[in-house]
Amino acid sequence: MRSIPAPTEARGRAGARTDLAADLRRRIVGQEEAIETIVPYVELYQAGLAPEGRPVGVFLLLGPTGTGKTRTVEALAEALHGSERNVLRIDCGEFQMEHEVAKLIGAPPGYLGHRETQPMINQHKLNAVASERSALSLVLFDEIEKAASSLGRLLLGVLDKATLKLGDNTTVNFERSLIFMTSNLGAREMMAELAARFGFAAAEDGSASAGKLRRIGVSAVRKRFSPEFVNRVDRTLTYRPLDKAALEAILDLQLEALERHLSSRLGPASFGLELSPEARVFLLEEGTSAEYGARELKRTIHRHLIQPLARLVLDKRARPGCLLRVEPDSGGEMLSFTPRDQVPLAA
Ligand SMILES: Nc1ncnc2c1ncn2[C@@H]1O[C@H](COP(=O)(O)OP(=O)(O)OP(=O)(O)O)[C@@H](O)[C@H]1O
Ligand SMILES: [Mg+2]
Repeated sequence: MRSIPAPTEARGRAGARTDLAADLRRRIVGQEEAIETIVPYVELYQAGLAPEGRPVGVFLLLGPTGTGKTRTVEALAEALHGSERNVLRIDCGEFQMEHEVAKLIGAPPGYLGHRETQPMINQHKLNAVASERSALSLVLFDEIEKAASSLGRLLLGVLDKATLKLGDNTTVNFERSLIFMTSNLGAREMMAELAARFGFAAAEDGSASAGKLRRIGVSAVRKRFSPEFVNRVDRTLTYRPLDKAALEAILDLQLEALERHLSSRLGPASFGLELSPEARVFLLEEGTSAEYGARELKRTIHRHLIQPLARLVLDKRARPGCLLRVEPDSGGEMLSFTPRDQVPLAA
């Protein structure tokens, strides 16, 4: 196999290492181990020293739902390429049946449906998620435990030799790729362990030992996957349940993202938001769930903030340029929105 020469990438200023890590830390909360593990692989690639004949790095991301596994890959795409969409994402849940794997690699020539079955992965799609800033492609296989075993066999070739043979006999080269695989294997046992040892409060304060969670995750993976597969993973990262401080920081990130979204979507018709401390407490209390992690917080923001705002926009009651003060209403069950110096708006 001809290997693609690995050029060194412009690293910008000296200290690109701290730049990337710091950039990721601003986007991913409370998962330091993941950041510290992933960044050196990116640097190896940027320095032109990544090994030939295999992907730049292969990571298995384990841990409870809503703790930032998928977000890590999106954040890396934002940092490297400028957009979270620069990820080739394969939802392994779509490949639970053996025959569905043809959707991934395309049907062989001569087979019924050959023309219609465009492979989900090909070299063009892989290259398309790189950018002018970086030629490193990020590939995400989500929920790998759901994949049929034939997909597992195809993956072995990708992880080991950085190649995937398509139905039409062409090959895809993954030497300029970081491969991420996420799985909830062991997540339930991790949460049960946290609850049994400390009660759910401790699941939130994150006091359980990282080592114990890692052992639970790795042993669940070893039960489900072959030793060949496990051996081809460079690093297994165990995501920790998010504590209260992490959820507060994630709330800030989400509110900043919401303000950016308002101003980019509404342009001059946009308006500002001013959350009272009580409104923040309201969102955090409603949005804290040991079971669903930050997913619950996201849902809460959607239900209590974004949906009422949409109604105010549609009814033309949120005036361009105004500042809306957001507080819990008198019943404490919803948020109320009041333009500065005016009466509350009924959402
Ligand atoms: N550690 C984190 N830092 C910042 N945001 C986070 C973090 N964890 C979760 N979020 C927020 O919650 C959302 C859901 O998280 P994410 O998709 O990463 O969960 P996941 O760990 O992949 O869960 P699942 O196992 O269900 O796929 C993200 O889009 C992000 O907005
Ligand atoms: Mg995910």
